[in-house]
Formats: sequence, structure tokens, C-alpha cells
Amino acid sequence: MKPSEPRRSPRPVPAHLRDLLAAMTLDEKIGQLVMVSLGAETIVTGPKAAEEPSVDDVRTGRVGSVLNLVGRDRIHALQRIAVEESRLKIPLLFGLDVIHGYRTAFPVPLAETAAFRPDLWEATARAAAEEATDDGLALTFAPMLDLARDPRWGRIVEGPGEDPTVGRAYARAKVAGFQGRDLARPDGLAATAKHFFAYGAATAGRDYASVDLSERTLHEFYLPAFEAAVKAGCLAIMPAFCDIAGRPVSGDRGWLTELVRDAWGFDGIYVSDYDAIGELVAHGVAADMAEAAARALHAGLDVDMMSRAYPDGLKPALERGLVSQTDLDAAVLRVLAAKDRLGLFEAPYGRGDPSRPPARSRDARRALARDVAAASMVLLKNDAAVLPLGPRGGPIALIGPVAARPAEMIGSWFCLGDQEEIVSLADGLAAAFPERPLTVVEGCDLDGDDDAGIPAAVAAAEAADVVLLAIGEPAGMTGEAASRAHPRLTGRQRDLARAVLATGRPVVVLLSCGRPLVEPEIFEKAAAVLVVWGPGSEGGHAVADLVCGRRSPSGRLPVSWPAAIGQIPVFYGERPSGRPFAEGEHFTTRYLDVANEPAFPFGAGLGYAPFDLSDPVVDRPRFRPGEALRLTATLANRGSVEAATTVFLFVRDRVASTARPLLELARFRTETLAPGESRELVFTLGDDDFALLGPDLAPRLEPGAFDLSLGFSADRRALRTVTVELVDADAAIV
Ligand code: BGC
Repeated sequence: MKPSEPRRSPRPVPAHLRDLLAAMTLDEKIGQLVMVSLGAETIVTGPKAAEEPSVDDVRTGRVGSVLNLVGRDRIHALQRIAVEESRLKIPLLFGLDVIHGYRTAFPVPLAETAAFRPDLWEATARAAAEEATDDGLALTFAPMLDLARDPRWGRIVEGPGEDPTVGRAYARAKVAGFQGRDLARPDGLAATAKHFFAYGAATAGRDYASVDLSERTLHEFYLPAFEAAVKAGCLAIMPAFCDIAGRPVSGDRGWLTELVRDAWGFDGIYVSDYDAIGELVAHGVAADMAEAAARALHAGLDVDMMSRAYPDGLKPALERGLVSQTDLDAAVLRVLAAKDRLGLFEAPYGRGDPSRPPARSRDARRALARDVAAASMVLLKNDAAVLPLGPRGGPIALIGPVAARPAEMIGSWFCLGDQEEIVSLADGLAAAFPERPLTVVEGCDLDGDDDAGIPAAVAAAEAADVVLLAIGEPAGMTGEAASRAHPRLTGRQRDLARAVLATGRPVVVLLSCGRPLVEPEIFEKAAAVLVVWGPGSEGGHAVADLVCGRRSPSGRLPVSWPAAIGQIPVFYGERPSGRPFAEGEHFTTRYLDVANEPAFPFGAGLGYAPFDLSDPVVDRPRFRPGEALRLTATLANRGSVEAATTVFLFVRDRVASTARPLLELARFRTETLAPGESRELVFTLGDDDFALLGPDLAPRLEPGAFDLSLGFSADRRALRTVTVELVDADAAIV
């Protein structure tokens, strides 16, 4: 476990903002805390407000921020009303969910995580920020950093998977990418770390349901990515919809202010989730809008997105003495400071300035989208090296409802993704195999009972040398409010798959999904399975790059892939149990009807070249607090093609004051090696890598033995381990 990083020092508030605050009326102050969806007919991301906001609210200073409005002309027109017609001329802040690209869609976040490439995570955020700021936007509601162990939860697709170390790296890369070198520049897009926090642990994977986890698990697993985002300087945080053990986060001062502001040093703004402040009433912790508003404001929540709790409830709350003027002023000042950091006072039209040339060409964005999509796909099985397919040979049958549907490539929650420009699987494969006949047959519907096309699909399979079976889960069935008790193929696709597999032709499954789908029978019978996720605008080309062998697959699973729905949540960072599983022993931790292991562990994934990893060697078997420990190992590509692989370094603290997880990820590294090439990998570990949270949840070092294990996944049977000993650490604080 990595303990807290040093506290960030909050920036001082500039004097001119204090003067501005002093000039504001109560209505104008409250207005700065209000974010509304205005003039946005096309993008709707939550329930409709009872009372529609109007442009006049901007003119009278009753609105401070706007979401879901797109197009630089519309944004500038509204900005003009704020900065030229309102009394105090305070600029508006425009935000949107720029999740995985703006017009050019990159792979969905879970997919992108599978690339295990922080450089690419940052690059796609930067490219999205360039496009979004070119259109006048200043804020994105991303990255989502919710750790998720439960594929029933549809929003698992939006985040970086199950591991806190990966979550930290992802948070840093995304904040750096979105915000750029300087937030005040016209291409700076403020990042929002969301949804703070533990939202991914919704009971039974049901979106918006209550969360109940131990403080230790919250601190060890669910908080680290948010802490990293704060330390990386993210401008905003969005509290989650959920309650944690009865404490709705949107109204919780302990989490929002005492931990994140006071202990971590967060000096940005909290933007509520859609309607979340008003929902404190439904949570049962506020009797009316005034109580909800008071509770959220006192907790430290600055901006009310679409609940009307602040515009309607704050005045009565002040009158009833439920909240203080000091809390109000502090929140207003933070919003003004955020706008100032974004350079909005100086250059309210800087973003979306038509005279500024685009930061990169369309071709460069498309090339990046293709590269990241290919790096994200995970090859889980490849019997008899059925993949890659040769450029010449017999017919290929591309079968399945995902085959020719571009919309399924773009994945859940695309922003403005240009529908005309999405490359379908059929188009991408046709371009990659000009010399092989390619038949495309849908077979059945993606969701629904129509299976009339199955006989035609079987006929196409029988006439082909190899079948590419493009199946999955509709993109629209992943994301928010998309929980599924049966995370499996939808409609009649299982029947289609069985019929095609029964032909005896080699079948390569191209699985389009936003979460692990539990389909053991199909995985077993298929010759190969390539998880393509929601790969984005260049999806069809990227799949084709891998299928034809132009490039070796290199994605690795960022989540354990369950073998059975009843195993959920299944994740690698479990604690050991007093009765660890032992073959043939009845009274050990196990199921009677299924193995404990997932179908594929965290980190699983194949390529077209086998890799070898030597035993790890350490420069010292014993070390003291403060010393750096060097671990080296040699990685070798034993194949005949260039390929990339990811090496994971895990730590296990064998004996400690609290039972430690069986494995904790300390480092991951993705390396590309030429055929026959070997490379020495050096990992330097320090106190942070060996620290744990003590019984009081404060970080400390405890002496004793630690296993350092290297491998290509979290499959413990395949790891190579060296044991080191920490001495002279008597529960030292780090
Ligand atoms: C989602 C957020 C999103 C917000 C604004 C909510 O429904 O939970 O993730 O940022 O809407 O669109």
C-alpha cells in the first residue's frame, strides 16, 4: 500500500477576488454556486429540472456555470451575456462530460486502461482537451476514478478497473493530459476527479445503491486515485451520488473538507453530481431543500448541478440559521478562484477563439485513436495460433450483430463522436484483407429475439476458412444506470455463437463490451477471443491491425474476469483468510460448484510473441527504512515479431499487525521488444512500497519479510518471487 503523498499547499486567493466578493449581493453569490444545463437540446445527462433555467438568469447573475452546451458560437453568445450584460461581468464556466474524446472517440476508459500505458492515457486526454477547448469548453467531468470490482455495475466501463496503483497512475496521467501545461492557457481543460468516492462499490452492483465498506478498505483501495488527482492539481472534484455507511458523500464534511481539503490540501472546487444535493432529501438526511442546501454547503460542496437546492434553498437556510455566511463566502471565493485559474476573467473568449489554429490535424488525432485502440484490446485466447490471419487464403466470414454497426465501436458515453467517421469492423477488415473474400452476415439482433439470420450465418461459416464472430453487449447497455444482474451476451447472440461454433470452423470471437461478460462456454469452444471493448472512432482499423498481424495484441485486463456470476466481486487483492483454499480440504475457503479463480486474472492478455522473464534479483536481501532497494530482472522476446508486454511487480507483506492482501501492485511497466531482444528491467522501491496503514489508519513501516513477485499477471502460480527483509523498522511512521 502506498501511503499518503505529502499534503499539497493550497494557493492563496488573489486580492481582486476578495474585492469582487465584497461587491456581490446575496443573489449574485448564490448564483456563482449554480450550474445549469442551458440551451442544450441535444445532450441530456440527468432528469429534467422542474423549473427550466433561462438566459435571463445569466443576465441577472443567478447562474455561474453551464453544462451540456456545445458549439463555440453558442458558448460565446452566452458568455457575452455574462461578461457584457450582467452587473458584475463574471464569466461563466462551461463544462461537459468529455469522457473518451470529444469529436474523435478514443477507446472507453476501461479499455484504455488495458493498454497499461500512462503516456497514452495522457495523450488521449490532451487530444480531447484540445478539441473541447477549441469549441469553447473549460471543464470536463472526467476522469472517473472509481475503483470497480463488480461488472454488474454498468459504470465499470468509465474507470480504470480494480487496482489502486493503476488508479493513481491513471489519475495523474489524465489530470496532466486534460489540464495541460497551464490551466490558464486557452487549451487548458479543467479536470474533475469523479465520483468521490467508493461509488463503484454500490451494493450488488446496482447503480446509485448504498455503499458499505470498512474504513480500511476505503483508505487502501478507494481513496488513493482521488488523492493522486488532488496532488496532481485537478481543479474540480465531483462527489458521488451514493452514501457510504449512511453518510451521503454530497453532504459529508468529514470526507469533503476535513480529509480532502484539510489533510490533502485540495484548493479547487467541488461540483455536485446531477441533482445530487437535492437528493439528500431522498437519502433521508435532509427534510427539505433548505436543509439539503445547508448540509451540502457546510460540507464544502461549492457548485450545485441542476438540483435547485442552492438557488431555492440557500436563502431560507441562511434565514433559519442552518448555514453561515462564512460557508457561503468561502464557496463563492473558491468558484471565483477556479475561474481565475482558468484565465476566464482575462480571456473569457480565449477558448473557442476561431483565429487559433487547431493544435493537431485530424489525421494526427485519428492516428492516435487507432494506436490507442489497438493497444487496448486484450487477446485472451489464441489456440493453435489461429491469429493472426494471413493476407492470402480462403474466405473469411465476419458474423454477428457488431460486425457492421459503427455505433457499437464508439462505446458508451461518447461526446460528440462524429457518427459518419466511425470505422466499423466490416470496413476495417475489408481494408486489411484486400485479397481474401470477406462475407458479412449479421446472424441475429444485438438485443432482442430476432434470430432469423442464424441459418444464413451458419451457411456463411461453413463456406469460410475462418469465422470472425463479432458479438457483445450493446454500447448503450453500459455506463450510468446500466447495471445488469446478468453481465452476459444480450439477445440471441449465445444461440448464434453456439450454431456457428457447431460448424467446426475455427472461430475467433471479437468481443465488444464495456465490462467482463461471463460466457465460459463460448470462451472454451472458440479458438481465439479478442476483447475489443468499445474501441472508438478507429475501432475497425485497430481490430484489423491485430487480426492481420500488422501489430501484436498487447492489452492486459485491468479487472479480473469472472468465471461465474456468483464469484462477483472477484479481484486479486484479497486478504489471505485463516483457511486458505487447499485442494481436497473441505473446510477451506472455496465454492462447491466453481473454482475460486476468475476465468482470467487481472493482467491477463496474450500477444503474438512469447516472452520470458528471469528470476528477480535484489541488490540487498535486507534493508532499512529510508533505503532504496533495487530489483532487476531480464525480459526477453522469444518470438519472431515485435511485441509489447506488461510486467507487474507485486509486494506481499507476509506478517503484519493487520492481515495484508495476498498481492499488492507496486509497479507495472509496458515494454516493446524486437524479436529476440532482451532487456534488463530495473525497479527501485522505497518506504512507500512497503508501508501499510496501521490500526489507526496512519501509514507506517513494520519490520519483517516481504515477497517481491514479478510476472505477467496476478496469477499467483506463475509469479517469480524473491523475499527481502525490512530491519530496524519498529513501526516507523513514513
Ligand atoms: C453523472 C456524472 C456526470 C453528470 C453530468 C451524472 O448523471 O453521474 O458522471 O458528470 O451527470 O453530466
